[in-house]
Amino acid sequence: MCGIVGYVGKRDSADVLVDALKKLEYRGYDSAGIAVFEDNKIKVAKSKGKLKDLIQKMDTEGKPQGTAGIGHTRWATHGEPSDINSHPHSGAKVTLVHNGIIENYKELKDFLVKQGRDFLSDTDTEVVAQLLDYYYAKIKEPISAIIETTQELRGSFALGIVFEDYPNTVYAVRRESPLIVGIGQGENFIASDVPAIIKYTKDYYLLEHDEIAVLSPNGVEVFDSHSQPIEKELKTADWDVDAVGKCGYPHYMIKEINEQPTAIRNTVTPRIKDGMPCLEECNITPEMLRGIRNIFIVACGTAMHSGMVGKYVIEELARTAVTVDIASEFRYRNPIIGEGDLIIIVSQSGETADSLAAMRLAKEKGAKTLAIVNAMGSTIAREADMLIYTHAGPEISVASTKAYMVQLSVMYLFAFELAYAKGQIDEDKLKYYTSKLLETSERVADVIAQTTELSQKISTKLVTADSLLYIGRGLDYALSMEGSLKLKEISYIHSESYAAGELKHGTISLITPEMPVIAVATQSALFEKTVSNIKEVKARGAKVIMICQEGCDISPDIANYVLRVPAFEEILLPMLVCVPLQLIAYYTSVQRGNDVDQPRNLAKSVTVE
Ligand code: F6R
Repeated sequence: MCGIVGYVGKRDSADVLVDALKKLEYRGYDSAGIAVFEDNKIKVAKSKGKLKDLIQKMDTEGKPQGTAGIGHTRWATHGEPSDINSHPHSGAKVTLVHNGIIENYKELKDFLVKQGRDFLSDTDTEVVAQLLDYYYAKIKEPISAIIETTQELRGSFALGIVFEDYPNTVYAVRRESPLIVGIGQGENFIASDVPAIIKYTKDYYLLEHDEIAVLSPNGVEVFDSHSQPIEKELKTADWDVDAVGKCGYPHYMIKEINEQPTAIRNTVTPRIKDGMPCLEECNITPEMLRGIRNIFIVACGTAMHSGMVGKYVIEELARTAVTVDIASEFRYRNPIIGEGDLIIIVSQSGETADSLAAMRLAKEKGAKTLAIVNAMGSTIAREADMLIYTHAGPEISVASTKAYMVQLSVMYLFAFELAYAKGQIDEDKLKYYTSKLLETSERVADVIAQTTELSQKISTKLVTADSLLYIGRGLDYALSMEGSLKLKEISYIHSESYAAGELKHGTISLITPEMPVIAVATQSALFEKTVSNIKEVKARGAKVIMICQEGCDISPDIANYVLRVPAFEEILLPMLVCVPLQLIAYYTSVQRGNDVDQPRNLAKSVTVE
């Protein structure tokens, strides 16, 4: 979704703004722009397309010169991607950039039109710029004008604002949409996310709802919605510039696949005490666990798929019913939840609008909420009753890999502890599972080493396919969902995941020699049954790629390719098997010449419904 940056200091601000926006490219966007104070006047440069298009435009038409300004990458919502609709937008004295959606923009626009104001674009953002300009013309004081304006806005916003009468000062305010204020030496920043500014400073404030920040080179002041100054707690990012660079890898996605062993270690190790999971510092106690009636795992996309694996594992080990819900469905289906129920919200960004709304609904209905989140200080993390941070570090590629992996690892930690608290497994079994979970980090490293070459080869066979099927049973089916999503989002090849036993109830009619089938068969108890399903598709001409454990006896006529992962504790195999699924998707996308890290139409952090 949209990215916001702002800078005040001594450097060439256009350069800093573009550089910071590059670090937010992962969020997905279709146009970009900046506004800079040049000789005390606000000069705007903006363009449809990527940042390179903006840079090209500034090369030919002139780059705004100055040491303070705001910048934006836009992911179109109101109005097509175009130069005019790109941010910044301006009134007579005010220019701003915006992330979020203003729900009542139409009525505000009607009001402003009646006041004689003209609009150039189709955006809700220009309405905010004109409204702020309207109040500023009346009040002639920035903070009060911002407060008057934001009181009228419904929806979500993070705004970076400059007033022509206040050169070299940047204002910021937010509600729902994220925004941080970076604190440097003689320079200060605003940004949608830490990666944008990590090169310049690791210190930042998290702006809360309706707080207003005023940035000058010499300092930052923050005010509440009654214009009262407030003290903010300084946060420090615990990762460095390398975490947001490609470090020699051709794409972030393959870098992040390779970071998975470390991510698992960082996530699991601190939660183990005396060989057993200990989630007490996340407010998860054995008493609380024993009181849980039903569990709902609610999330979107890949995060929801980690919940599918979680469901199988929790139900199997803890014998507690789990429903997995797509957040955008859950929030509108009047779910039957209440006291005694636990709602687990899974989110890499911690800002996904539907997941956040689902969590708030669950709280309203009296259920307890547990968030599994990667982004520190994000809204979901801050509002949940209980919180388990995953420590994947920043995930830049739009296609989630390492965040999914650590979401799985937390699902296991939680399932083991719940099963023990509910008396479904004894201490020995708990310690055994925990030791195996700790081992996954090394095993995942082995799988990356062992399956990269074959995954690459397999992808050459998929590159021309129009459509693919992923099949599996039980945990393998849960995993197939993620394999299929990963492939389609970055390769643009249609694919579906299907419960292998369900094929013959309709979908098998799609099978032709042109439709490759990826069959995941890692679970011994279901192996023979899945093999029968594989034979059914093979008999109808499908080319089959089979993923199974080392040592499995597979006759040559069953599969065209067999990809083996090390034999391991079966319940944990999803953490190993997701690796070749990620690699197959990655190499297929590379071979199709796609933009692997920023697939078309997608955004990393989905802050709109
Ligand atoms: C796919 C992907 C998305 C996200 C989904 C939820 O690779 O990344 O499906 O998983 O948009 O995002 P978060 O986890 O930030 O809530």
